[in-house]
Amino acid sequence: PAPTPGFPLPSLHTQEAYDPAADFTSKWTRADAKQIMAQSNTNVAPGQNSMSPDVTMPEIPKDFPAMNDDVWVWDTWSLTDENANQISYKGWDVIFSLVADRHAGYGFDQRHWNARIGYFFRKTNADPAKDKWNYGGHLFLDNTSIGNTEWSGSTRLMQGNKVNVFYTATTFYDVAERNAGGGGIAPDAVIAKALGNIHANQDGVTFDGFEHTKLLEPDGKLYQNKAQNPGFAFRDPYTFADPAHPGKTFMVFEGNTGGTRGDYKCKQEDLGYRPGDPHAETLDQVNTTTGAWYQTANVGLAVADNKDLTKWSFLPPILSANCVNDQTERPQIFIQNENGKNKYYLFTISHQFTYADGMRGPDGVYGFVGNGVRSDFQPVNNSGLALGSPTDLNMPANAPEGPDPRQNGRQFQAYSHYVQPGGLVQSFIDNVDGVRGGSLSPTVKMNFQGGVTQVDRTFGKNGLGPFGYLPTNLRVGGEGLY
Ligand code: FRU
Repeated sequence: PAPTPGFPLPSLHTQEAYDPAADFTSKWTRADAKQIMAQSNTNVAPGQNSMSPDVTMPEIPKDFPAMNDDVWVWDTWSLTDENANQISYKGWDVIFSLVADRHAGYGFDQRHWNARIGYFFRKTNADPAKDKWNYGGHLFLDNTSIGNTEWSGSTRLMQGNKVNVFYTATTFYDVAERNAGGGGIAPDAVIAKALGNIHANQDGVTFDGFEHTKLLEPDGKLYQNKAQNPGFAFRDPYTFADPAHPGKTFMVFEGNTGGTRGDYKCKQEDLGYRPGDPHAETLDQVNTTTGAWYQTANVGLAVADNKDLTKWSFLPPILSANCVNDQTERPQIFIQNENGKNKYYLFTISHQFTYADGMRGPDGVYGFVGNGVRSDFQPVNNSGLALGSPTDLNMPANAPEGPDPRQNGRQFQAYSHYVQPGGLVQSFIDNVDGVRGGSLSPTVKMNFQGGVTQVDRTFGKNGLGPFGYLPTNLRVGGEGLY
């Protein structure tokens, strides 16, 4: 595309693949992320959506249904295999969600401090527009997981009737913090897994026999730890196989660049301007006038050292967003064949309030494409923004707890987008024009090819599919059940 007057050009990225163990971390640069504003419309009426409809999630109606009356539901994922296929198990679709009790006396924004993994199931041939997901309750028995809250992860069906649940074991130490939602003793976070059994019969799906294993703690070198930053991020494991490295199992996760918070100095490669670009910032400018060095998100990579997936080693991060954004959450790798070649899409969610000084973008899902798990990733649409909530990016950033009433009422309509096979993007409803959510959004369809994404507005009703539509594409078991 033609450069936007007044803006720098995006960084050049080759998409070249490196060995997964190589010491190469792709950069989501300031020059890249500045393309979000370069592509945003400066002439919209205040509080409208300033982004292209191609990267904007259609508006969720205010009268959305609650998925469950007893629990709030947010981050959600399907039962999958190592290739991101979504598995129908003996005729049932199964999904896993962070849940919190709606009636325990705390508010929706305190859900993180009370999070448990719950699960839902529904007949594979159900009508997604009419048939509700059945709530199966908490996945793990009380007080059996590694931490005292359970945060996001992913669930893989293993041989036979076993599942491996990869999750974030977050431990809060401060009851006041748990109830008040922040400000107290910083929590610990480790990546853990639980191996258990899945059962299905005519009545539904149950799980039992979970054995929990701690897998990874941040090392403080590649991945920042709590001593270095009480607000560190280390969570959201997602495991997968890579056809280019048969026999290996990899994990991507959310991390921050190792080192003490505030010590980081932005580097030329974090800025990523092309030589001679008249709109480039200088390193000195960024490192003295902005505070951008406080934002140090990365997407971590680990490799399993044994077949049981109980032992893992860290590899260098595959992406960093130093001096761009502080959180790249719930990363996932989606491999798609394009013109006979495997293209690796890295998707990750991020917020407007975690952007660094000088950067602006919406809450939503961001994407990067390359030729391997470790690549010089090209941000989708040149900017990284794949699909955002309707937002007027001409106005300053807000947080979901305190939105500016003049902003677009749907700027926080959805979060925690998860890209499923066929480009179906599922998310949860957070705040639709003041109505708080806690339920799954209508699924939308995002076509992506050649590093370009586009919301399919012919899908469903004006681009909105059924609420909580997480269809399966691979059947396992099911003798006589369907
Ligand atoms: C995304 C997220 C995840 C985390 C969870 C905690 O919505 O921040 O990174 O696991 O929510 O509730």
